[in-house]
Amino acid sequence: MTAIILDQIAGKLPLWVEDSRKCSSEGRVASYIPELSKAPTEALGIHLLDGSGRSASAGDCGLSFTMQSISKVFTLILALIENGEEAVFHKVGMEPTGDNFNSMLKLELVRPGIPFNPLINAGAIAISSLIGGRNAEEKSARTLQFFRSLAGNDSLECDEDVRRSESETANLNRSMAYLLKDNGVLEGDVEEVLAVYFHHCSISVTCADLARMALVLAFDGVDPIKGERLIPRRYVQIAKTFMTTCGMYNASGEFAIQVGLPAKSGVSGGILTLVPGQYGIGVVGPALNAKGNSIAGVQLLETMSRELDLSMF
Ligand code: DON
Repeated sequence: MTAIILDQIAGKLPLWVEDSRKCSSEGRVASYIPELSKAPTEALGIHLLDGSGRSASAGDCGLSFTMQSISKVFTLILALIENGEEAVFHKVGMEPTGDNFNSMLKLELVRPGIPFNPLINAGAIAISSLIGGRNAEEKSARTLQFFRSLAGNDSLECDEDVRRSESETANLNRSMAYLLKDNGVLEGDVEEVLAVYFHHCSISVTCADLARMALVLAFDGVDPIKGERLIPRRYVQIAKTFMTTCGMYNASGEFAIQVGLPAKSGVSGGILTLVPGQYGIGVVGPALNAKGNSIAGVQLLETMSRELDLSMF
């Protein structure tokens, strides 16, 4: 991995974006949450932020989108802060699954019936149940506040249209949550847990917000711009390991080979990634490939990693 100098790439970034954007016509915007199908198929944007607050961006980086599965990295960290490792990994495992992100297959097949990891839906729903608060409103407010502090943006909000759309069509997540309850993984009211989950998946961000959140991970839990520790180093290590092994779902192995950076994708087309000790990066490209990752976003990160020698491996 080499140090990347923002001035050197600022001129190339728009060219890489326009080149990668071409493949978005081969992807499809997620439609199983109806509200997400309104996203612009051809959009592609990126924002990079370094530890001194300097940034470079290109393409449709002003586009707002919901965090979806990217939020799972940060609810995991919040649950670790509030409960510690032992309690969290009593409820979820640490292994990639080889199954789809919304699969519940192994919850029945593999004893003790805890989700394989915190980044698949079943695992993230279990993590949502560990967030502190007396009810779904308090837990959601706590999560939003945590995300705002990491993004350095007090105006982050939940997109209510997406949250409602997801809740109304979440038959699979709902059945998974009830199975988790039966397996003894979820405590409390299942609908309250799901409400917390739908809320954090629907928090609306831009590429700049993702880049700032990723920057905190790139600097092992310290926000280098404010000089403030926001997350214990150990929990960042855990989160980055999951991002590397499971962050891009069943394409995590290929992404590790082609890009070589910890990353997390979401079905709205966002990707949060980072260059350790150097950059936080936010990408959006709503058209997804067959594995559920942004098709143009992955292409753009592959190009950047190759051209700039970014791989950690
Ligand atoms: O539960 C869901 O289906 C969505 N809220 C999140 C899924 C997701 O982002 C999967 N990512 N690639």
